[in-house]
Amino acid sequence: MTTPTPIIAIDGTAASGKGTLARRLADALGFAYLDTGTLYRKVAVDVLAAGGDPADEATAIQAAQNLQKNLDLQSLKDPAIRTAQAGKYASVVAAITGVRTALIDLQRGFAAHPPALADGSPAKGAILDGRDITTFICPDAPVKFYVDAAVDTRAARRHKELRGNGEAIEFEQVLDDMKIRDARDMGRKDAPMMIAPDAIVIDTTTMGVEAVVALAMEHVRKALPDR
Ligand code: C5P
Repeated sequence: MTTPTPIIAIDGTAASGKGTLARRLADALGFAYLDTGTLYRKVAVDVLAAGGDPADEATAIQAAQNLQKNLDLQSLKDPAIRTAQAGKYASVVAAITGVRTALIDLQRGFAAHPPALADGSPAKGAILDGRDITTFICPDAPVKFYVDAAVDTRAARRHKELRGNGEAIEFEQVLDDMKIRDARDMGRKDAPMMIAPDAIVIDTTTMGVEAVVALAMEHVRKALPDR
């Protein structure tokens, strides 16, 4: 019998710091990391690039099925998926049942059989972050975090990031978009964002990155003592 791959599941709101935490834990532990938000962003961007409407279910489902068939992990690094527009439409396609269904196997497959790390060495485990990882994609993960922060703090972080990427966008616009996105992610009927009963909640509003990583590492070491 093979031992199951150790999995760390992280959910949380947009710009809560969950991606930074996931990347830091992945580097420290030698785990492979999948930012599942990039999948929904890529579906939205692919639909828009083809001149389609992301809210059209059939078009979005087709794009999700294509993505899962031909996934190139490198394409998830495309800066085009990091724009405010991509984030907004990602949450639109993410509310479509068929889109979510098309992406399940890909995410569970990554968790069960993580790809080799950038240096070619085998991954020692998998970290996935998103909105439904702790509750639906990997409900049996031995370590679960839910990361959140006050909405205006998150909007300020996202605003800085978007400005840094050259996007001319006002803070109020980012804040409004974030509130709409939170409501859509928490209110949709399939796998809505929620706090799993066994998740460790980390509020990053006033915590620095190092403190967040140290706190999470304490929990990882307890749950996965041989890491
Ligand atoms: O994490 P990020 O902000 O990049 O995610 C973009 C959008 O993708 C989210 O607002 C959410 O609607 C959707 N998403 C999701 N389930 C996930 C990851 C992301 O519905 N596991």
